[in-house]
Amino acid sequence: MPPMLLELAYILSAFLFILGLKRLGSPATAPAGNSMAAAAMLIAVVATLLDRQVVSYAGIAGGIVGGAIVGTILARRVQMTAMPQLVAVFNGFGGGASALVASAELIRQTGMEPGIAGGIAAGVGILVGTVTFSGSVIAWGKLQGVITQRPVLFPLQRVVSFLLFAALVAGVILLAAGPVDPLLVLAMAGAALLLGILLVVPIGGADMPVVVSLLNSYSGLAASAAGFVLGNALLILAGALVGAAGLILTQLMCRAMNRSLANVAFGAFGGVDTTVGQDGPARTARSTTAEEAAPLLGHASRVAIIPGYGLAVAQAQHEVKKLVSNLEERGVEVYFAIHPVAGRMPGHMNVLLAEADIPYELLLDLDDANDQMPRTDVAIVVGANDVVNPEARNPASAIAGMPIVEVDRATTVVVIKRSLSTGFAGIDNPLFYKNRTMMLFADAKVAMADLAREVREV
Ligand code: TAP
Repeated sequence: MPPMLLELAYILSAFLFILGLKRLGSPATAPAGNSMAAAAMLIAVVATLLDRQVVSYAGIAGGIVGGAIVGTILARRVQMTAMPQLVAVFNGFGGGASALVASAELIRQTGMEPGIAGGIAAGVGILVGTVTFSGSVIAWGKLQGVITQRPVLFPLQRVVSFLLFAALVAGVILLAAGPVDPLLVLAMAGAALLLGILLVVPIGGADMPVVVSLLNSYSGLAASAAGFVLGNALLILAGALVGAAGLILTQLMCRAMNRSLANVAFGAFGGVDTTVGQDGPARTARSTTAEEAAPLLGHASRVAIIPGYGLAVAQAQHEVKKLVSNLEERGVEVYFAIHPVAGRMPGHMNVLLAEADIPYELLLDLDDANDQMPRTDVAIVVGANDVVNPEARNPASAIAGMPIVEVDRATTVVVIKRSLSTGFAGIDNPLFYKNRTMMLFADAKVAMADLAREVREV
Protein backbone atom coordinates (compact mmCIF):
# COMPACT_ATOMS: atom_id res chain seq x y z
CA MET A 1 0.00 0.00 0.00
CA PRO A 2 1.44 3.45 -0.91
CA PRO A 3 2.54 5.27 2.27
CA MET A 4 0.37 8.26 1.37
CA LEU A 5 -2.75 6.07 1.22
CA LEU A 6 -1.89 4.45 4.54
CA GLU A 7 -1.47 7.86 6.19
CA LEU A 8 -4.83 8.93 4.80
CA ALA A 9 -6.50 5.75 6.07
CA TYR A 10 -4.99 6.34 9.52
CA ILE A 11 -6.09 9.99 9.62
CA LEU A 12 -9.63 8.99 8.61
CA SER A 13 -9.62 6.26 11.21
CA ALA A 14 -8.35 8.62 13.95
CA PHE A 15 -10.98 11.18 12.98
CA LEU A 16 -13.75 8.55 13.19
CA PHE A 17 -12.45 7.28 16.56
CA ILE A 18 -12.59 10.76 18.09
CA LEU A 19 -15.98 11.60 16.55
CA GLY A 20 -17.34 8.21 17.63
CA LEU A 21 -16.12 8.72 21.19
CA LYS A 22 -17.71 12.16 21.30
CA ARG A 23 -21.03 10.74 20.09
CA LEU A 24 -20.97 8.11 22.83
CA GLY A 25 -21.52 11.01 25.25
CA SER A 26 -25.30 11.06 24.71
CA PRO A 27 -27.77 8.16 24.49
CA ALA A 28 -29.32 9.76 21.39
CA THR A 29 -26.08 9.73 19.39
CA ALA A 30 -24.42 6.70 21.02
CA PRO A 31 -25.48 4.05 18.45
CA ALA A 32 -24.06 6.20 15.61
CA GLY A 33 -20.90 6.80 17.66
CA ASN A 34 -20.49 3.08 18.20
CA SER A 35 -20.81 2.37 14.47
CA MET A 36 -18.30 5.13 13.66
CA ALA A 37 -15.73 3.72 16.08
CA ALA A 38 -16.31 0.20 14.69
CA ALA A 39 -15.81 1.51 11.13
CA ALA A 40 -12.62 3.28 12.28
CA MET A 41 -11.33 0.01 13.71
CA LEU A 42 -12.10 -1.86 10.50
CA ILE A 43 -10.30 0.77 8.39
CA ALA A 44 -7.32 0.70 10.77
CA VAL A 45 -7.02 -3.09 10.79
CA VAL A 46 -7.45 -3.54 7.02
CA ALA A 47 -5.06 -0.67 6.15
CA THR A 48 -2.42 -2.01 8.55
CA LEU A 49 -2.63 -5.55 7.25
CA LEU A 50 -2.58 -4.44 3.61
CA ASP A 51 0.45 -2.30 4.33
CA ARG A 52 2.49 -4.76 6.30
CA GLN A 53 1.47 -7.86 4.42
CA VAL A 54 1.37 -9.40 7.89
CA VAL A 55 -0.81 -12.30 6.85
CA SER A 56 -2.36 -13.49 3.60
CA TYR A 57 -5.54 -11.94 2.23
CA ALA A 58 -7.28 -15.22 3.02
CA GLY A 59 -6.11 -14.82 6.64
CA ILE A 60 -7.47 -11.26 6.82
CA ALA A 61 -10.82 -12.31 5.33
CA GLY A 62 -10.96 -15.31 7.68
CA GLY A 63 -10.25 -13.07 10.68
CA ILE A 64 -12.96 -10.58 9.70
CA VAL A 65 -15.58 -13.30 9.07
CA GLY A 66 -14.62 -15.27 12.21
CA GLY A 67 -14.60 -12.12 14.37
CA ALA A 68 -17.92 -10.92 12.97
CA ILE A 69 -19.56 -14.30 13.69
CA VAL A 70 -18.25 -14.45 17.28
CA GLY A 71 -19.17 -10.78 17.85
CA THR A 72 -22.69 -11.21 16.48
CA ILE A 73 -23.36 -14.33 18.56
CA LEU A 74 -22.05 -12.65 21.71
CA ALA A 75 -24.02 -9.45 21.14
CA ARG A 76 -27.24 -11.40 20.59
CA ARG A 77 -26.81 -14.03 23.30
CA VAL A 78 -25.29 -12.15 26.24
CA GLN A 79 -27.92 -10.79 28.62
CA MET A 80 -27.84 -7.08 29.41
CA THR A 81 -27.14 -7.91 33.07
CA ALA A 82 -24.05 -9.89 31.98
CA MET A 83 -22.59 -6.99 29.98
CA PRO A 84 -19.93 -6.12 32.60
CA GLN A 85 -18.56 -9.69 32.30
CA LEU A 86 -18.42 -9.37 28.52
CA VAL A 87 -16.58 -6.06 28.75
CA ALA A 88 -14.17 -7.68 31.23
CA VAL A 89 -13.45 -10.42 28.68
CA PHE A 90 -12.92 -7.85 25.90
CA ASN A 91 -10.51 -5.85 28.09
CA GLY A 92 -8.63 -8.99 29.06
CA PHE A 93 -8.19 -10.05 25.44
CA GLY A 94 -7.13 -6.52 24.47
CA GLY A 95 -4.50 -6.40 27.22
CA GLY A 96 -3.37 -9.95 26.48
CA ALA A 97 -3.03 -9.18 22.76
CA SER A 98 -0.89 -6.11 23.48
CA ALA A 99 1.31 -8.12 25.85
CA LEU A 100 1.74 -10.85 23.21
CA VAL A 101 2.68 -8.28 20.55
CA ALA A 102 5.28 -6.72 22.86
CA SER A 103 6.65 -10.15 23.91
CA ALA A 104 6.84 -11.43 20.31
CA GLU A 105 8.66 -8.30 19.20
CA LEU A 106 11.17 -8.65 22.04
CA ILE A 107 11.71 -12.39 21.48
CA ARG A 108 12.25 -11.63 17.76
CA GLN A 109 15.08 -9.34 18.92
CA THR A 110 16.73 -11.99 21.15
CA GLY A 111 20.33 -11.03 21.86
CA MET A 112 19.86 -7.59 20.29
CA GLU A 113 19.62 -4.19 22.00
CA PRO A 114 16.02 -2.95 21.88
CA GLY A 115 17.19 0.55 22.95
CA ILE A 116 15.87 2.56 25.90
CA ALA A 117 12.61 3.66 24.27
CA GLY A 118 11.97 0.27 22.65
CA GLY A 119 12.76 -1.65 25.86
CA ILE A 120 10.57 0.58 28.03
CA ALA A 121 7.64 0.47 25.58
CA ALA A 122 7.80 -3.31 25.25
CA GLY A 123 8.30 -3.81 29.00
CA VAL A 124 5.35 -1.57 29.85
CA GLY A 125 3.29 -3.39 27.20
CA ILE A 126 4.05 -6.75 28.84
CA LEU A 127 3.50 -5.47 32.38
CA VAL A 128 0.25 -3.56 31.83
CA GLY A 129 -1.13 -5.92 29.17
CA THR A 130 -0.60 -9.05 31.26
CA VAL A 131 -1.92 -7.44 34.47
CA THR A 132 -5.00 -6.40 32.45
CA PHE A 133 -5.42 -9.95 31.17
CA SER A 134 -5.20 -11.81 34.47
CA GLY A 135 -7.04 -9.07 36.39
CA SER A 136 -9.86 -9.18 33.84
CA VAL A 137 -10.11 -12.97 34.07
CA ILE A 138 -10.58 -12.65 37.86
CA ALA A 139 -13.08 -9.78 37.36
CA TRP A 140 -15.01 -11.96 34.89
CA GLY A 141 -14.95 -14.88 37.35
CA LYS A 142 -16.28 -12.74 40.20
CA LEU A 143 -19.02 -11.18 38.08
CA GLN A 144 -20.01 -14.56 36.66
CA GLY A 145 -20.02 -16.13 40.13
CA VAL A 146 -17.31 -18.65 39.16
CA ILE A 147 -14.99 -17.22 41.83
CA THR A 148 -16.14 -16.05 45.26
CA GLN A 149 -17.54 -12.52 45.18
CA ARG A 150 -16.16 -11.78 48.64
CA PRO A 151 -12.84 -9.96 48.95
CA VAL A 152 -10.07 -12.58 49.25
CA LEU A 153 -7.50 -11.28 51.70
CA PHE A 154 -4.37 -12.95 53.08
CA PRO A 155 -1.45 -11.73 55.21
CA LEU A 156 1.23 -9.63 53.49
CA GLN A 157 -0.92 -9.40 50.34
CA ARG A 158 -0.03 -5.77 49.67
CA VAL A 159 3.66 -6.39 50.43
CA VAL A 160 3.78 -9.28 47.95
CA SER A 161 1.99 -7.15 45.33
CA PHE A 162 4.41 -4.28 45.90
CA LEU A 163 7.45 -6.59 45.62
CA LEU A 164 6.11 -8.07 42.39
CA PHE A 165 5.53 -4.59 40.99
CA ALA A 166 9.05 -3.50 41.99
CA ALA A 167 10.50 -6.62 40.33
CA LEU A 168 8.56 -5.86 37.16
CA VAL A 169 9.85 -2.28 37.08
CA ALA A 170 13.37 -3.68 37.47
CA GLY A 171 12.59 -6.03 34.55
CA VAL A 172 11.57 -3.06 32.38
CA ILE A 173 14.87 -1.31 33.24
CA LEU A 174 16.84 -4.48 32.38
CA LEU A 175 15.04 -4.71 29.03
CA ALA A 176 15.90 -1.11 28.24
CA ALA A 177 19.52 -1.55 29.33
CA GLY A 178 20.70 -4.72 27.68
CA PRO A 179 20.34 -7.36 25.01
CA VAL A 180 17.01 -9.15 25.04
CA ASP A 181 16.86 -12.38 27.04
CA PRO A 182 13.68 -14.39 26.30
CA LEU A 183 13.80 -15.82 29.83
CA LEU A 184 13.43 -12.32 31.26
CA VAL A 185 10.44 -11.72 28.98
CA LEU A 186 8.78 -14.94 30.19
CA ALA A 187 9.59 -14.22 33.85
CA MET A 188 8.06 -10.74 33.52
CA ALA A 189 4.92 -12.16 31.92
CA GLY A 190 4.61 -14.70 34.75
CA ALA A 191 5.11 -12.07 37.46
CA ALA A 192 2.60 -9.72 35.81
CA LEU A 193 0.03 -12.56 35.58
CA LEU A 194 0.34 -13.08 39.32
CA LEU A 195 0.21 -9.33 40.03
CA GLY A 196 -3.05 -8.96 38.07
CA ILE A 197 -4.63 -11.74 40.15
CA LEU A 198 -3.36 -10.29 43.45
CA LEU A 199 -4.64 -6.83 42.60
CA VAL A 200 -8.20 -7.95 41.84
CA VAL A 201 -8.93 -10.83 44.28
CA PRO A 202 -9.06 -8.54 47.37
CA ILE A 203 -11.81 -6.44 45.78
CA GLY A 204 -15.45 -7.41 46.44
CA GLY A 205 -17.55 -8.67 43.51
CA ALA A 206 -19.86 -5.70 43.77
CA ASP A 207 -17.04 -3.28 43.01
CA MET A 208 -16.09 -5.19 39.86
CA PRO A 209 -17.73 -2.69 37.46
CA VAL A 210 -15.31 -0.02 38.68
CA VAL A 211 -12.42 -2.48 38.35
CA VAL A 212 -13.55 -3.40 34.82
CA SER A 213 -13.59 0.29 33.89
CA LEU A 214 -10.08 0.72 35.32
CA LEU A 215 -8.85 -2.39 33.49
CA ASN A 216 -10.38 -0.94 30.34
CA SER A 217 -8.16 2.07 30.85
CA TYR A 218 -5.14 -0.24 31.38
CA SER A 219 -5.92 -2.11 28.17
CA GLY A 220 -5.71 1.24 26.35
CA LEU A 221 -2.37 1.96 27.96
CA ALA A 222 -1.08 -1.47 26.93
CA ALA A 223 -2.30 -0.90 23.36
CA SER A 224 -0.47 2.45 23.27
CA ALA A 225 2.70 0.73 24.46
CA ALA A 226 2.26 -1.90 21.72
CA GLY A 227 1.83 1.00 19.28
CA PHE A 228 5.25 2.34 20.31
CA VAL A 229 6.77 -1.14 19.92
CA LEU A 230 5.38 -1.50 16.40
CA GLY A 231 5.93 2.16 15.48
CA ASN A 232 2.21 2.47 14.70
CA ALA A 233 0.88 5.99 15.36
CA LEU A 234 -2.76 5.00 15.12
CA LEU A 235 -2.42 2.27 17.74
CA ILE A 236 -0.74 4.80 20.07
CA LEU A 237 -3.59 7.26 19.53
CA ALA A 238 -6.42 4.70 19.83
CA GLY A 239 -4.83 3.23 22.96
CA ALA A 240 -4.47 6.69 24.51
CA LEU A 241 -8.15 7.43 23.79
CA VAL A 242 -9.23 4.18 25.46
CA GLY A 243 -6.86 4.81 28.38
CA ALA A 244 -8.14 8.34 28.97
CA ALA A 245 -11.82 7.46 28.47
CA GLY A 246 -11.53 4.50 30.86
CA LEU A 247 -9.88 6.64 33.50
CA ILE A 248 -12.53 9.38 33.20
CA LEU A 249 -15.29 6.78 33.48
CA THR A 250 -13.64 5.23 36.53
CA GLN A 251 -13.46 8.66 38.18
CA LEU A 252 -17.10 9.41 37.36
CA MET A 253 -18.20 6.10 38.88
CA CYS A 254 -16.15 6.68 42.02
CA ARG A 255 -17.52 10.21 42.37
CA ALA A 256 -21.12 8.98 41.96
CA MET A 257 -20.49 6.56 44.84
CA ASN A 258 -18.58 9.20 46.81
CA ARG A 259 -15.62 6.83 47.08
CA SER A 260 -12.01 7.21 46.12
CA LEU A 261 -10.27 4.80 43.77
CA ALA A 262 -8.04 3.78 46.68
CA ASN A 263 -11.15 2.92 48.71
CA VAL A 264 -12.41 0.74 45.86
CA ALA A 265 -9.02 -0.95 45.46
CA PHE A 266 -8.25 -1.46 49.13
CA GLY A 267 -11.56 -0.91 50.95
CA ALA A 268 -12.83 -4.51 50.70
CA PHE A 269 -16.31 -2.97 50.26
CA GLY A 270 -19.30 -4.76 48.80
CA GLY A 271 -18.45 -8.15 50.19
CA VAL A 272 -18.88 -7.28 53.82
CA ASP A 273 -22.24 -7.04 55.53
CA THR A 274 -22.44 -3.42 56.63
CA THR A 275 -26.12 -3.48 57.53
CA VAL A 276 -26.91 -0.84 60.13
CA GLY A 277 -29.97 0.38 61.95
CA GLN A 278 -31.30 -3.05 62.90
CA ASP A 279 -31.12 -2.47 66.65
CA GLY A 280 -33.40 0.57 66.84
CA PRO A 281 -37.11 0.51 67.69
CA ALA A 282 -39.18 -1.89 65.58
CA ARG A 283 -40.22 -0.23 62.36
CA THR A 284 -43.03 -1.16 60.06
CA ALA A 285 -43.15 -0.71 56.35
CA ARG A 286 -46.54 -0.02 54.79
CA SER A 287 -47.25 -2.43 51.98
CA THR A 288 -49.57 -1.72 49.06
CA THR A 289 -50.97 -3.34 45.95
CA ALA A 290 -51.13 -2.28 42.30
CA GLU A 291 -54.90 -1.69 42.67
CA GLU A 292 -54.30 0.65 45.62
CA ALA A 293 -51.37 2.51 44.05
CA ALA A 294 -52.89 2.96 40.57
CA PRO A 295 -55.38 5.74 41.51
CA LEU A 296 -52.52 7.73 43.06
CA LEU A 297 -50.68 7.57 39.75
CA GLY A 298 -53.72 8.08 37.57
CA HIS A 299 -54.75 11.26 39.41
CA ALA A 300 -51.22 12.69 39.74
CA SER A 301 -49.97 15.66 37.73
CA ARG A 302 -46.33 14.63 37.78
CA VAL A 303 -44.82 11.17 38.32
CA ALA A 304 -41.13 10.30 38.60
CA ILE A 305 -39.80 6.81 37.85
CA ILE A 306 -36.49 5.87 39.46
CA PRO A 307 -35.10 2.73 37.87
CA GLY A 308 -32.43 0.56 39.53
CA TYR A 309 -30.72 -2.78 39.32
CA GLY A 310 -33.96 -4.73 39.98
CA LEU A 311 -35.46 -3.30 36.78
CA ALA A 312 -32.56 -4.81 34.85
CA VAL A 313 -32.87 -8.16 36.65
CA ALA A 314 -36.61 -8.31 35.98
CA GLN A 315 -36.22 -6.99 32.39
CA ALA A 316 -39.20 -4.77 33.12
CA GLN A 317 -38.37 -1.98 30.66
CA HIS A 318 -41.18 -2.78 28.20
CA GLU A 319 -43.77 -2.87 30.99
CA VAL A 320 -42.39 0.48 32.23
CA LYS A 321 -42.94 1.89 28.76
CA LYS A 322 -46.58 0.68 28.83
CA LEU A 323 -47.13 2.38 32.18
CA VAL A 324 -45.59 5.62 30.86
CA SER A 325 -47.84 5.54 27.77
CA ASN A 326 -50.95 4.88 29.84
CA LEU A 327 -50.09 7.70 32.24
CA GLU A 328 -49.31 10.12 29.43
CA GLU A 329 -52.63 9.26 27.76
CA ARG A 330 -54.28 10.50 30.97
CA GLY A 331 -52.28 13.74 30.80
CA VAL A 332 -49.87 12.82 33.60
CA GLU A 333 -46.35 14.22 33.15
CA VAL A 334 -43.76 11.47 33.59
CA TYR A 335 -40.00 11.73 33.90
CA PHE A 336 -37.20 9.33 34.80
CA ALA A 337 -34.56 10.13 37.40
CA ILE A 338 -31.34 8.46 36.28
CA HIS A 339 -28.65 7.99 38.90
CA PRO A 340 -25.17 7.64 37.35
CA VAL A 341 -24.48 4.35 39.17
CA ALA A 342 -27.98 2.85 39.12
CA GLY A 343 -27.68 -0.78 38.05
CA ARG A 344 -24.33 -2.43 37.66
CA MET A 345 -22.61 -0.73 34.75
CA PRO A 346 -22.25 2.78 33.41
CA GLY A 347 -25.28 3.81 31.39
CA HIS A 348 -27.12 0.63 32.43
CA MET A 349 -30.50 2.34 32.85
CA ASN A 350 -30.15 4.44 29.68
CA VAL A 351 -29.48 1.31 27.64
CA LEU A 352 -32.45 -0.57 29.14
CA LEU A 353 -34.87 2.31 28.66
CA ALA A 354 -33.62 2.93 25.12
CA GLU A 355 -34.33 -0.74 24.40
CA ALA A 356 -37.99 -0.05 25.18
CA ASP A 357 -37.98 3.13 23.00
CA ILE A 358 -38.52 5.43 25.95
CA PRO A 359 -37.73 8.95 24.63
CA TYR A 360 -34.41 10.37 25.87
CA GLU A 361 -36.09 13.66 26.70
CA LEU A 362 -37.87 11.97 29.60
CA LEU A 363 -34.56 10.96 31.18
CA LEU A 364 -33.31 13.53 33.70
CA ASP A 365 -29.92 13.38 35.33
CA LEU A 366 -29.54 13.45 39.10
CA ASP A 367 -29.44 17.22 39.64
CA ASP A 368 -32.33 18.02 37.31
CA ALA A 369 -34.42 15.20 38.78
CA ASN A 370 -33.76 16.39 42.34
CA ASP A 371 -34.86 19.90 41.35
CA GLN A 372 -38.19 18.43 40.17
CA MET A 373 -38.70 16.13 43.16
CA PRO A 374 -40.52 18.58 45.54
CA ARG A 375 -43.05 19.24 42.74
CA THR A 376 -43.58 15.52 42.09
CA ASP A 377 -46.75 13.79 43.29
CA VAL A 378 -45.57 10.20 43.13
CA ALA A 379 -42.03 8.82 42.86
CA ILE A 380 -42.03 5.17 41.74
CA VAL A 381 -38.80 3.43 42.71
CA VAL A 382 -38.44 0.35 40.49
CA GLY A 383 -35.84 -2.12 41.77
CA ALA A 384 -33.58 0.64 43.08
CA ASN A 385 -32.30 0.75 46.63
CA ASP A 386 -28.91 2.36 47.35
CA VAL A 387 -29.41 5.19 44.86
CA VAL A 388 -32.47 6.38 46.84
CA ASN A 389 -31.17 5.60 50.33
CA PRO A 390 -31.43 8.66 52.64
CA GLU A 391 -28.77 7.02 54.86
CA ALA A 392 -26.30 8.71 52.49
CA ARG A 393 -27.07 11.90 54.48
CA ASN A 394 -25.90 10.21 57.67
CA PRO A 395 -22.18 10.96 58.17
CA ALA A 396 -21.77 7.67 60.08
CA SER A 397 -23.08 5.55 57.21
CA ALA A 398 -20.84 3.54 54.86
CA ILE A 399 -22.48 5.38 51.95
CA ALA A 400 -22.18 8.82 53.59
CA GLY A 401 -21.98 11.57 51.00
CA MET A 402 -23.09 9.43 48.07
CA PRO A 403 -25.36 11.59 45.92
CA ILE A 404 -28.90 10.13 45.87
CA VAL A 405 -32.17 10.65 44.06
CA GLU A 406 -34.08 12.51 46.78
CA VAL A 407 -37.37 10.66 46.38
CA ASP A 408 -38.28 11.38 50.00
CA ARG A 409 -38.96 14.96 48.88
CA ALA A 410 -41.80 13.82 46.61
CA THR A 411 -45.36 13.79 48.01
CA THR A 412 -45.67 9.98 47.93
CA VAL A 413 -43.16 7.24 47.22
CA VAL A 414 -44.02 3.79 45.86
CA VAL A 415 -41.12 1.34 46.13
CA ILE A 416 -41.30 -1.78 43.96
CA LYS A 417 -39.05 -4.63 45.09
CA ARG A 418 -39.54 -8.16 46.31
CA SER A 419 -38.60 -7.75 49.97
CA LEU A 420 -37.08 -5.31 52.47
CA SER A 421 -33.62 -6.69 51.76
CA THR A 422 -30.62 -4.47 51.17
CA GLY A 423 -29.06 -3.56 47.83
CA PHE A 424 -25.51 -3.70 46.59
CA ALA A 425 -24.01 -1.76 49.51
CA GLY A 426 -25.62 -4.05 52.10
CA ILE A 427 -27.16 -1.09 53.94
CA ASP A 428 -30.63 -0.92 55.44
CA ASN A 429 -32.85 1.69 53.78
CA PRO A 430 -34.93 3.95 56.11
CA LEU A 431 -36.94 5.16 53.10
CA PHE A 432 -38.96 1.93 53.25
CA TYR A 433 -40.29 2.81 56.71
CA LYS A 434 -41.24 6.44 56.12
CA ASN A 435 -44.87 7.58 56.48
CA ARG A 436 -45.22 8.60 52.88
CA THR A 437 -43.64 5.45 51.47
CA MET A 438 -45.66 2.47 50.22
CA MET A 439 -43.94 -0.82 49.49
CA LEU A 440 -45.23 -2.82 46.53
CA PHE A 441 -43.59 -6.20 47.13
CA ALA A 442 -43.35 -7.88 43.73
CA ASP A 443 -41.08 -8.65 40.84
CA ALA A 444 -40.59 -5.38 38.94
CA LYS A 445 -41.94 -6.77 35.65
CA VAL A 446 -45.12 -8.14 37.23
CA ALA A 447 -45.69 -4.97 39.28
CA MET A 448 -45.19 -2.69 36.29
CA ALA A 449 -47.57 -4.75 34.13
CA ASP A 450 -50.17 -4.69 36.94
CA LEU A 451 -49.81 -0.94 37.44
CA ALA A 452 -50.05 -0.26 33.68
CA ARG A 453 -53.28 -2.31 33.54
CA GLU A 454 -54.78 -0.83 36.70
CA VAL A 455 -54.02 2.76 35.65
CA ARG A 456 -56.19 2.28 32.55
CA GLU A 457 -59.08 1.32 34.79
CA VAL A 458 -58.83 4.28 37.18
P1 TAP B 1 -29.23 -1.86 44.48
O1 TAP B 1 -28.95 -0.93 45.59
O2 TAP B 1 -28.25 -2.94 44.21
O3 TAP B 1 -30.67 -2.49 44.78
C1 TAP B 1 -31.32 -3.25 43.83
C2 TAP B 1 -32.61 -3.75 44.42
O4 TAP B 1 -33.32 -4.39 43.38
C3 TAP B 1 -32.42 -4.77 45.51
O5 TAP B 1 -32.58 -4.21 46.79
C4 TAP B 1 -33.46 -5.86 45.20
O6 TAP B 1 -34.38 -5.96 46.28
C5 TAP B 1 -34.19 -5.32 43.97
N1 TAP B 1 -34.47 -6.36 43.00
C6 TAP B 1 -33.68 -7.35 42.56
N2 TAP B 1 -34.32 -8.11 41.68
C7 TAP B 1 -35.57 -7.58 41.54
C8 TAP B 1 -36.70 -7.92 40.78
N3 TAP B 1 -36.69 -8.98 39.94
N4 TAP B 1 -37.80 -7.17 40.88
C9 TAP B 1 -37.82 -6.11 41.73
N5 TAP B 1 -36.78 -5.73 42.48
C10 TAP B 1 -35.65 -6.48 42.38
O7 TAP B 1 -29.45 -1.11 43.09
P2 TAP B 1 -29.35 0.43 42.72
O8 TAP B 1 -30.22 1.26 43.58
O9 TAP B 1 -29.54 0.47 41.24
O10 TAP B 1 -27.89 0.84 43.09
C11 TAP B 1 -26.78 0.38 42.38
C12 TAP B 1 -25.68 0.01 43.32
O11 TAP B 1 -24.63 -0.61 42.56
C13 TAP B 1 -25.09 1.21 44.02
O12 TAP B 1 -24.75 0.89 45.34
C14 TAP B 1 -23.84 1.48 43.21
O13 TAP B 1 -22.84 2.16 43.94
C15 TAP B 1 -23.43 0.08 42.83
N6 TAP B 1 -22.55 0.06 41.65
C16 TAP B 1 -23.02 0.52 40.48
C17 TAP B 1 -22.17 0.58 39.40
C18 TAP B 1 -22.68 1.16 38.12
S1 TAP B 1 -21.64 1.75 37.10
N7 TAP B 1 -23.96 1.23 37.87
C19 TAP B 1 -20.88 0.12 39.51
C20 TAP B 1 -20.43 -0.38 40.73
C21 TAP B 1 -21.30 -0.41 41.79
P3 TAP B 1 -35.22 -7.30 46.50
O14 TAP B 1 -34.24 -8.42 46.57
O15 TAP B 1 -35.94 -7.05 47.78
O16 TAP B 1 -36.16 -7.44 45.34
